[in-house]
Amino acid sequence: MADDVQRQLRAYVEYFRDLGVYDFYRRGEPGTAVWPESVAAVELERVSAPVDVVERTIAAVTRPVARSPVEGLGLKLVSFNDLAPLPEVRVAVEHRAEALKGIQEEIGDCTRCPLAYAGRRKIVFGDGDPKARLMFVGEGPGADEDASGVPFVGKAGQLLNNMINAMGLKREEVYIANVVKCRPPANRVPEPVEANTCSQFLLRQLDVVQPQVVVALGSTAASYLLGVKQSLAGLRGRWHSCRGAKLAVTYHPAFLLRDPRQKGEAWKDLQMVMAELGLKAKA
Ligand code: URA
Repeated sequence: MADDVQRQLRAYVEYFRDLGVYDFYRRGEPGTAVWPESVAAVELERVSAPVDVVERTIAAVTRPVARSPVEGLGLKLVSFNDLAPLPEVRVAVEHRAEALKGIQEEIGDCTRCPLAYAGRRKIVFGDGDPKARLMFVGEGPGADEDASGVPFVGKAGQLLNNMINAMGLKREEVYIANVVKCRPPANRVPEPVEANTCSQFLLRQLDVVQPQVVVALGSTAASYLLGVKQSLAGLRGRWHSCRGAKLAVTYHPAFLLRDPRQKGEAWKDLQMVMAELGLKAKA
């Protein structure tokens, strides 16, 4: 078995151990799971079919990288609205920076999912204004972000900056985060087990920042935030809801770099957002 595959497989095994599953024939005590109950329930449901888990885990770590974010280990998608109730007491504007810092500290040098063992250098928490009215959510860090610890700083990030500027905003005025905070090896789509483990932190970032509008960049962000498996075409051009914010879906900047003909379509999505926020396009 290639070294990479072996390393990833070992990471999955360690991950199951963290769940309290010491072999694939025994089930951990539900109380040992450390996530919000809804996430833990999905996890426990998934580990209850031992032979399948082994087969699907091996399939997951050996499969080619480009595939739908919701295939794989058979996890059910749960929208961010259903993951946890909205907090009764909202974080006041003056405490948002501090609250985000608290979440970052809690993440620490995270080893909650296999990405911790898959060559990660820096955890990419998030960037921007803690009281932003507009929040962008991408998929996961790439090589440049992994090296710098800041989301969207590579080529896709430069295009995102241009998109933000075209909307009449500066990058420092929005908040940017990803579905997963560690770089998936070879920039593959995050596995459901990785995205679901990390989503508790993105959810809390959303609840602290309380943006008026969220833009999901690409299908991974849209799938996890909304809990749906649908084509981007079916999700774009209309409003969704997420954690009390209006949510729009558009193309991921990396996709736009590959297919610049779709930039006009993405601009339509951003114009819908600008109308909502009362923004005027940069001349
Ligand atoms: N792509 C993403 O989805 N997020 C980043 O931070 C960088 C590239």
